[in-house]
Amino acid sequence: MSHPSAFRPATLLVHAGTERTNHDETAEALFLTSGFVYDSAEQAEATFAGTEKHYQYSRFGNPTVVMLEDRLAAVEGAEACRATATGMAAVHAALLSHLRAGDRLVAARALFGSCHWIVSTLLPRYGIEAVFVDGADMAQWREALATPTAMVLLESPSNPMLEVLDMPAIAELAHAAGAVVVVDNVFATPLLQHPLQLGADVVVYSCTKHIDGQGRVLGGAVLGRKKWIEEVLQPFTRNTGPAMSPFNAWLLLKGMETLALRVDAACRSAAYLADFLAAQPQVARVWYPTREDHPQHALARAQMSAGGTLVTFEVAGGKAAAFAVLNALRLARVSNNLGDSKSLVTHPATTTHVRIGAEERARLGITEGVIRLSVGLEDVLDLRDDLGRALSVLRAAA
Ligand SMILES: Cc1ncc(COP(=O)(O)O)c(C=O)c1O
Repeated sequence: MSHPSAFRPATLLVHAGTERTNHDETAEALFLTSGFVYDSAEQAEATFAGTEKHYQYSRFGNPTVVMLEDRLAAVEGAEACRATATGMAAVHAALLSHLRAGDRLVAARALFGSCHWIVSTLLPRYGIEAVFVDGADMAQWREALATPTAMVLLESPSNPMLEVLDMPAIAELAHAAGAVVVVDNVFATPLLQHPLQLGADVVVYSCTKHIDGQGRVLGGAVLGRKKWIEEVLQPFTRNTGPAMSPFNAWLLLKGMETLALRVDAACRSAAYLADFLAAQPQVARVWYPTREDHPQHALARAQMSAGGTLVTFEVAGGKAAAFAVLNALRLARVSNNLGDSKSLVTHPATTTHVRIGAEERARLGITEGVIRLSVGLEDVLDLRDDLGRALSVLRAAA
């Protein structure tokens, strides 16, 4: 499309990036090919020399994957995008393509388990200093960013406690320290929050979550300025190979067509269920970004257009009570995935965040009674009844 930014997000999600072949197909073409042929040895030489534009090899680029990258970039309002095989490949590539031995990275402590491992365990192996701060405490950011820093990594809302961070204030401090700000925007989706407008330089996604939204494929994406993507990220991804499969890109393009409808419906259900859960006697506490009782609700309302599709809640009675609720649910199924059309529940302390250790979990408030609910597209009243019935197991046991 020639001027994709002229359209609103729901339109971009359906059309942006589409490149039709000479057969004028309606749906995006799926180029399941690992390589490409050249008309001549001279054309191959010119392509590798960069003087002619031609697809070379699907590790470097593929027309179906490029359609997805262009669509994601248009919706995000980013200059460029590169798709990756998974969300973790996106986070890993964004960090490792930029950082060098001797560099320093400051990260908000509240990160998804694998992101936490990259920062705490992988980066120091390569001589990169990694500093964690409590993301909601601006004094800690000020102190950490008083030292020159190459990168800042944060997740907002965070997995699983839905902590919301002050992106403009953090970005200002980060930029003054010389850092590139990377935001993992998975929980907000490209629709509810626009980190690049809030001061971030790079946005990463697990496309596995809402962008697919139907539990089919893994995928990831890194978005940012053209210069950074082409000069910093691209040489790293081209040579290390975390490429997205064209088949997965095709499914993700189809997922994007319904993203606005799905996220809108799931957000409405999540807000309703957060209120329902908060009113239940077995629920000690609920976290939902736009609820009045969320510690950063004003910030959430300023930075996000809705509270998202995740609700986190704590039941009194620790692990035994949380497991009893999970096992009593019939509609919402136990799964560590999220952002699916099917509602999913997980116990973060024993799954997604088991490897960060008990001490770090305690600092993040991930107690044994915490349950993360990813709200899907079922009738919200059926979900409410399922939750109510599952919680009543605790009442019966009490
Ligand atoms: C916030 C966040 N970032 C990154 C990831 C990693 O994505 P993937 O599983 O696609 O590698 C996940 C979930 O797995 C996540 O919840």
